[in-house]
Amino acid sequence: FGKTIHYLESTDSTQKVAHRLAQEGCPDGTLVIAEEQTNGRGRLARVWHSPKYTGIWMSLVLRPKLPPAKAPQFTLIAAVAVAQAIEDVCKISPDIKWPNDLLLNGKKITGILTELQADSDKIDAIIMGIGMNVNQKEADFPIELHDIATSLAIETGKEISRSNLVKRLLENLEKYYLIYLKNGFAPLKLLWESYAVSLGKDIIARTISGNIAGKALGITDEGVLKIQDYNGQIHEIYSADIEIK
Ligand code: BTN
Repeated sequence: FGKTIHYLESTDSTQKVAHRLAQEGCPDGTLVIAEEQTNGRGRLARVWHSPKYTGIWMSLVLRPKLPPAKAPQFTLIAAVAVAQAIEDVCKISPDIKWPNDLLLNGKKITGILTELQADSDKIDAIIMGIGMNVNQKEADFPIELHDIATSLAIETGKEISRSNLVKRLLENLEKYYLIYLKNGFAPLKLLWESYAVSLGKDIIARTISGNIAGKALGITDEGVLKIQDYNGQIHEIYSADIEIK
C-alpha cells in the first residue's frame, strides 16, 4: 500500500480527493494523506475536525474484486489495523466500538469512513477514510468535543511520531487486506473481538429503520453485529450508531 502517495499540505477532504482519483482509475492501494483538512467529513454528514500537523488524515483507495455487500467488512479490517498500530507505537490498547469507532477511556481517538464506488454486482473502489487524533492538546478540540474526543498525546502524556504511526498502520492494513482476500473475514474476527468493547453489554443500536435495544452478542463471520433484544429475539445489524448503556 501507499506505492502511489498523494501528499497534500492542505485539502478540503482526503476522502473527496480519493473519490476523484478512483474515478480516474488510480491503482489499488493509492494513498491520499493531508496535514490538514478544511472540510473533513465523518459518518452521517458530520464534520471531522482535522487541524494542521496534529493528526493522521488519510484515505486509501482499494480495488478488491468482490461484491458490494462485502464493503462493510473493510471498516472492521481497518479498525483492527489501527488498533494494533496504536498498540505497537503508543503501548496502549484502544477499544473498538462497532462498527467504526476507536476509543480510549470512552473517548474517540479514531474514526473510519468506508465508502463505495460500485455497480450492482461488483466493487469498483472502496474509499477507506481514516482520521486519527494524534498530537492534539485539549485546547485544540472545539468545546463540544471535549467530552467525546481525545488524542493519543493526551492519553499517553507524550508526543507521538505520526510518521511511525502511519508506517505501521499501512503495514497492518496491507497485511490484513491480504489475509482477508485470501481467507475472508473469519480469521480476523477473533482479533477484532479482542478489542471490542460492546460485546456482552447492553446497547442501543440506532438504525435507519428504528432503534433496537438489547445485548450485543458478537459479530458473524461476515462482520455483522448480532443483538439479542429483551424478548430474546436475535437481530443482525448491518449499519447503526451504537450507544453502550
Ligand atoms: C467517523 O467516525 O464519523 C468517520 C471519520 C472519518 C474521518 C476521515 S479523516 C480522513 C478522511 N477524509 C475525510 O473527509 N474523512 C475521513
